[in-house]
Amino acid sequence: MSFWKRTVREWDLAGKTVLLRADYNVPLDNGKITDDYRIQKSLPTIQFLLEQNCKVVICSHLGRPNGKPNPEFSLAPVAERLGELLKKDVAFALDCVGPIAEGAVGQLQNGQVLLLENLRFHPEEESNDDEFGKSLAKLAEVFVQDGFGVVHRAHASTSAVARHIPGIAGLLLEKEVDTITNVMDNPERPLVAIIGGSKISDKIEILNRFIDIADFVAVGGAMANTFLLAEGIDIGKSLAEPSEVSLAKDIIEKARKKSKEQRFVFYLPQDGVVAKSLDKNAHTRIVDWDAHVIATIENYPKNPDRKTGQVEDDELILDIGPFSGAFIAGGMQMANTVIWNGTMGVTETPSVHGPIGPFAHGTDIIVDAMLGEYGHKPFTVVGGGDTAGYVEQRKLVGSFNHVSTGGGASMELMSGKQLPGVEALWNKE
Ligand code: ADP
Ligand code: 3PG
Ligand code: MG
Repeated sequence: MSFWKRTVREWDLAGKTVLLRADYNVPLDNGKITDDYRIQKSLPTIQFLLEQNCKVVICSHLGRPNGKPNPEFSLAPVAERLGELLKKDVAFALDCVGPIAEGAVGQLQNGQVLLLENLRFHPEEESNDDEFGKSLAKLAEVFVQDGFGVVHRAHASTSAVARHIPGIAGLLLEKEVDTITNVMDNPERPLVAIIGGSKISDKIEILNRFIDIADFVAVGGAMANTFLLAEGIDIGKSLAEPSEVSLAKDIIEKARKKSKEQRFVFYLPQDGVVAKSLDKNAHTRIVDWDAHVIATIENYPKNPDRKTGQVEDDELILDIGPFSGAFIAGGMQMANTVIWNGTMGVTETPSVHGPIGPFAHGTDIIVDAMLGEYGHKPFTVVGGGDTAGYVEQRKLVGSFNHVSTGGGASMELMSGKQLPGVEALWNKE
């Protein structure tokens, strides 16, 4: 089922000048792009527009330059990479509105591509200023929104611009919204949701939604630490949000209630990899603090006689442990759909040997299970942000059914929120 009534496919674009909003907010290191996944994912729409002989004018933001020009946040490196990927010259304009942008568009021929400088060099972009939206609209006849990663923002290039010229969805936006909406509204069950990452406060809504709709919810990452605190487990100096403990208790209570009413499992890690620092050479140990499962399965091994380990005061939990990884991977053997958002540990710490860092093994087990390494391969959807970054870094992005280009946007969509950049489009009959 498609959410969309109006995409680039349902609009006469032949020979038109099109303003394409992309999300080229890519990670840079000293002016070099370290991950071009978002650029790659923008290619189908650009190619589609070029086949229609359009003049393709692309706008985007990069980083958070706070409304002022700043060479550190220039999109020039993106123009270069885009040209390489398209195997075609990409012109670059030093401003996204006004005489410089208008002059560059004036020079453009049909079948050519122009990238405009960072929208956020103007404060009016983030304030969703109507005049600024109008100046953007002046550059083209049609607006195509394809920057899925930014449609949760109501900015001039996601909202105001579409008040002045027709706004329609590009192919990436269409695919992202359709895939995520379908998997949330109509998943092939059992549905497993794996939620990790750094903060529970960022992911309350998505967690609540998954407890509502999923058959198995597993929590990992630093987020799990706040739940462990709520369960009275020592977490040493691990990253956690003590102010959210009561919220964690509410979520556990909600999960417990659901598990009494139907077949449902809410799983918190039962062991972890701990160390005294994040250093790649830090001494690590595995602590098994007991099984904490809120499940329908009677007598799940929460064995009071079992000797449990303890995280010391000066230690940090930096990854889920092997039992937890195995339990979650086991759950996935029964799943037909898996949605994953947030790493299980500190995947950034580089490895000393081989490709997997010392605190990335838990995440790696999840990845292996999602990709069918243990026999069964479910339909897999990965949220954007750091999770997608990890998958990209491991060069595994093509192996999942869908790896979102949007971090905040995919979370908001999964939470069931309306996205301003989608609402602004002309998507009615
Ligand atoms: P996403 O961007 O995919 O939504 P998050 O930003 O929520 O993911 O989470 C990723 C971050 O969580 C990573 O930077 C990772 O280092 C951090 N993280 C995961 N587990 C832990 C942990 N146990 N302690 C500290 N940080 C953690
Ligand atoms: C992202 O990377 O999540 C998007 O490009 C949005 O960026 P923002 O969080 O700075 O608005
Ligand atoms: Mg993140």
